[in-house]
Amino acid sequence: MLSTSKIEISRKALESNMRFVREQIGDNTIISTVVKGNAYGHGIEEFVPLAEACGAGHFSVFDAAEAYRAKKVIQQPDTEIMIMGMIEDEHIDWAIEEDISFFVFELERLAYAAKAAKRVGRPARVHVEAETGMNRIGYEAHELPEVAHLLKKHQEHLQFEGLCTHFAGAESIANYVRVKNQRKTYKRIRKWFESQDLKPRLCHTACSAAAMRYPPTRMDMVRIGILNYGFWPSRETLIEHNSNVNRQDNPLQRLLSWKSQVMDIKTVRTGEYVGYGTSYLANEEMKIATVPIGYGHGFSRSLSNAGRVLIHGKRVGVIGMVNMNAITVDISQLEDVQRGDEVVIIGYQGDLELSVSSFGEFSNQVNYELLTRLPLDIPRDVVD
Ligand SMILES: Cc1ncc(COP(=O)(O)O)c(C=O)c1O
Repeated sequence: MLSTSKIEISRKALESNMRFVREQIGDNTIISTVVKGNAYGHGIEEFVPLAEACGAGHFSVFDAAEAYRAKKVIQQPDTEIMIMGMIEDEHIDWAIEEDISFFVFELERLAYAAKAAKRVGRPARVHVEAETGMNRIGYEAHELPEVAHLLKKHQEHLQFEGLCTHFAGAESIANYVRVKNQRKTYKRIRKWFESQDLKPRLCHTACSAAAMRYPPTRMDMVRIGILNYGFWPSRETLIEHNSNVNRQDNPLQRLLSWKSQVMDIKTVRTGEYVGYGTSYLANEEMKIATVPIGYGHGFSRSLSNAGRVLIHGKRVGVIGMVNMNAITVDISQLEDVQRGDEVVIIGYQGDLELSVSSFGEFSNQVNYELLTRLPLDIPRDVVD
């Protein structure tokens, strides 16, 4: 292979996770599959058709660039794409032409969308994002009359596709009061729009954590990211779910495995330092292997002298500093390691597993961060 590592994506795991999510959410709510952040590192080009084959018909991306990528690989004519974040004016005509819906949270964008829709000759499908307390993006209360005015004035060109918001941390009970207030504010705004004779086609607020924890937030559509990929938004949400259903095991499965190979092997004499600087001193003669993945490939530098990988079905430790393109691991306890032998960074080798969270715990990265830092150019293969 040309790349120094590869990522495998399991079809069976995705099928199973999507089935689980559908069972939780029920049949009457649209599930938008969130594929921002390069499908949480899984690769938009590989993940989107796979998810479609498993039944997904609605995808959420962050920006226009991701929408272009998703659009290119979508297989079914009626599969929908929704942009939840950045889209510049120069791409709005394209989005409207392709029937891609998008969030609006500035009056200028809404006015521009109306103009663009007139030009294109087809309505812009807009999701009005309301500020409910996250304080990120979303119309403030004082802007809503103007939003309503624009929606009415341009009703031929603006389709009120959604009224949405995003919760500021539904995965943690510490944010309970804040989320509760956001839910109340959303409800008030929804009622206000109704009082103006404006009814969105879809009311949607819930990410994975909200959809699991607060069923009333599900409404017409939920935007599910992390659960599809086999992770819980937080440990707390897994524990809460399991105690609600009296279950012990994790109903989700990781889709992603990350593998590389041994690049080189050498012996280090007692008293020598390994790698840059003096962070690792060989207390005895040892055998080390170099693996061609480093912080430039998403293997965090904070895993220096701390990370683990699997070789020959055994856990071995990273010694010395993580380099841009390589790590060194201690293979003194292993027999007959050869150049080219498989190295598992995330996934199973034999009975042992390195999970994303164990990896994340060593480097203080949450699952979301670790996954989305996996570079675009590592090849992704779909496996069964
Ligand atoms: C607006 C919005 N909706 C939904 C999601 C999906 O979140 P999760 O992966 O926790 O389901 C995100 C991700 O952060 C988001 O920003």
